[in-house]
Amino acid sequence: MKRDNRLPTVIQSLRNAIVSARPGARLPSVRTLVNEHRVSPATVERAFAQLVSEGLIEPRPGQGTFVRQARESTSEGADFSWQSVALGATRVDGGFMNTLLTVPPPESLILSMGYLPPDLQASSLLASALRQNSRRLELWDRLPIEGLEPLRTWFAREVGQGTVFSSHDVIICGGGQAAIATTFRALVPAGRPVLVETPTYSGAISAARATGLELVPVAIDEQGVRPDLLADAFRQTGARVFYSQPTFSNPSGTVLSAERRAVVLDIAAKARAFIIEDDWARDLDLTGTIPAPLAVSDQHGHVVYIRSLAKSAAPGLRVAAIIARGAASARLKSARCSDDFFVSGPLQAAALTVVSAPGWKRHLSTARTALIERRDALVSALNAELGSHVTFQVPSGGMHLWLRLPDHISDDAITADMARQGVVISAGRAWFPADPEGSFLRLTFAAPPASLREGVRRLAQVIREKI
Ligand SMILES: Cc1ncc(COP(=O)(O)O)c(C=O)c1O
Repeated sequence: MKRDNRLPTVIQSLRNAIVSARPGARLPSVRTLVNEHRVSPATVERAFAQLVSEGLIEPRPGQGTFVRQARESTSEGADFSWQSVALGATRVDGGFMNTLLTVPPPESLILSMGYLPPDLQASSLLASALRQNSRRLELWDRLPIEGLEPLRTWFAREVGQGTVFSSHDVIICGGGQAAIATTFRALVPAGRPVLVETPTYSGAISAARATGLELVPVAIDEQGVRPDLLADAFRQTGARVFYSQPTFSNPSGTVLSAERRAVVLDIAAKARAFIIEDDWARDLDLTGTIPAPLAVSDQHGHVVYIRSLAKSAAPGLRVAAIIARGAASARLKSARCSDDFFVSGPLQAAALTVVSAPGWKRHLSTARTALIERRDALVSALNAELGSHVTFQVPSGGMHLWLRLPDHISDDAITADMARQGVVISAGRAWFPADPEGSFLRLTFAAPPASLREGVRRLAQVIREKI
């Protein structure tokens, strides 16, 4: 028993050997490894079996165990050039989204990222909730497309404050991004316009393009979307859908003002149009005075509401809700059916366990307190290092700060320079559905204060050289 505890060590040492070996190299024999690690032959066999299952090594009967050829080498000599004709032009701009999701090297300073960093994630709550629910065998069976009833009830109560929605209005999806993509596809025919704030979430831009929609940018100011321009855009384009983030918009941090909330709802009603309300940062309110969702004041089914748990728990909790009423709800269920049927049962149940646990409220409160401290650290560092060379609004929620650079400094050039220095930031242009209105960077204030300060110090050096 005791010896088996050394299995991870044996696997790790084999992994190290594999990384530095050439493909086809022979690994030490079972007997050598038994002596080296003072383990039983069965432990070595289990280590080999694990690495075989990962495709890293291959046993050759009678000869030994060998490092497998690198994956790329299996395409050596293959000619994939025919695929460019078969695929045609691309509508899916995976490039930027891939960059955003790429995990940077461990020593990087991360000043742009869409999720809470590991030290603020609800990982232990999640781990124990998943352990608990993975044993409930009924959850591995087929589930209703719209998701588990108790989880839908939780979302309905949470969003509608107990009065506005019922579980029938809620459809569970595999994360906010999936919810946006499904909603676009279900509500807007390909080729038709969709109105979006500018700047707006780059993932929504990408999903709209992938669906073949025409993006129509509508300008915002410090109170959110401009109602005059929104009404104009509906009139001019005949659009029937407006994708919006009324609360802590990513990237600008803007909150739609109380006066405009009613006006925007009224404009959508007059245009007989939907508003897709992406309420991604509701759990990340740093003021304690967050306005209610638009959906709560909508009587006639104009608002289709999206709420994800990945932002407040951890990126791996791929669970979100779409709340919709009327025929839109039926369309959305059909769209989910052609997407991926339903979200894994144990994951849905784990999500419910997490948000119902007493520790959830504590987790949210700890995350918010840390975000306030980190936002303030970023703001002080920017003021101290860059002063009047840059402009920004102090965000009151979410996790991003939208930094305007002097117009002659390229956001792309700065981002590339910073990447060379091991600092991850995002060039603002990816958040514009059409022409960028200036040069911007999106900075995230979720990293620990020391990283933020050091990142800004390096950023300021690079910017000052270009002023
Ligand atoms: C505004 C906004 N909406 C939706 C999402 C999607 O998040 P998830 O799919 O992890 O729920 C993101 C992620 O960055 C976002 O920033």
